[in-house]
Amino acid sequence: ETIEWDAEDAGKSGYDHYMLKEINEQPRSLRQCLRGRVDELEGTVTIEELEDLPTPERVQFVACGTSYHAALYGELTLRERGVHTQTFLASEYDRSSVPIDEDTLVIGVTQSGETADTMRALRQAGRAGATTLAVTNVVGSSASRECDYTMYIRAGPEIGVAATKTFASQQTALTLLADAIEDGERREVLAALRDLPDHVQSILDGSNAREIAAEYEDSDAYFFIGRGYNYPVALEGALKMKEITYKHAEGFAAGELKHGPLALVTSNTPIFAVVTGDDERATKTIGNVKEVEARGAPVVAVTDGQSDVERYADHVLSIPETHGRVGPILANIQLQLASYWLANRLDRSIDKPRNLAKSVTVE
Ligand code: G6P
Repeated sequence: ETIEWDAEDAGKSGYDHYMLKEINEQPRSLRQCLRGRVDELEGTVTIEELEDLPTPERVQFVACGTSYHAALYGELTLRERGVHTQTFLASEYDRSSVPIDEDTLVIGVTQSGETADTMRALRQAGRAGATTLAVTNVVGSSASRECDYTMYIRAGPEIGVAATKTFASQQTALTLLADAIEDGERREVLAALRDLPDHVQSILDGSNAREIAAEYEDSDAYFFIGRGYNYPVALEGALKMKEITYKHAEGFAAGELKHGPLALVTSNTPIFAVVTGDDERATKTIGNVKEVEARGAPVVAVTDGQSDVERYADHVLSIPETHGRVGPILANIQLQLASYWLANRLDRSIDKPRNLAKSVTVE
């Protein structure tokens, strides 16, 4: 199914930048991603494009940039369901060093469907006998034409070079895909997905990311930490920050902080800690937050308020409470806004950052 977008959608609609417009479009683009695919009463997910997709023995994701972070997130959802899954940076994918057979499903996550590294990996996998699936935004793209199957994320056109709404739609699409491939505890996730667009809207309406960004425009570096589903979100938060502010930013698995990165932490390196839920992962990440706090680093907690991370934070970026797999989608929205407003203060070329291209068609 293709979704029609009118000419007005291609304009900035009163926003200063496409990026901010696209961040604000997320309630709508997520609704489109979900439309017709979820039957909450029955607890079923139907992806029309994938109706005859064979159940794979193993899954390999290949992707670049932001799409790689979405793939890492997708990997966790499949692993949780017991599906053997690996994720590769497409440029590092080498079929001779990974097992592939006809029961292998290789999923290329690519917004544009044109990224050369991802296309090369998908072609290699196809030649080796794997089933290939493109998760893409662009109807008629190379990935959609060349893969055995295509799932559309339906985010609508994204003009800003830094991916925003397509990332949220990739995360959402991959959550649905995991449900379509292998049954899990569906109903709770599906209920959370139903509420996702409204939850995103409430973040957009109430975010204090602009004020927080203003406090840290002169920092030396920005670090992002998270565990589990929040680890890819930390990576994506840092990538967005580098791309549009030109500031040094790194994302770490929270547990890795003490194995090296802690040496970089000072009173001039704010730490964005993504903490959702109140489980063992949250408790451990709070432990890491205390470690950086003890070194004088400012802490910005991105949290649903379930844990007590706020006690150790200088600032809080709040998200609504939801299912553990959906919270990270919400957390990322706050990080998008934080990067956007910092870049805005620094007067950067937000929609077209230096040296970067929307779609990279060389390897
Ligand atoms: C470029 C863009 C990134 C994007 C990456 C992968 O580097 O600047 O924002 O994440 O390509 O793009 P894709 O279209 O394959 O998702």
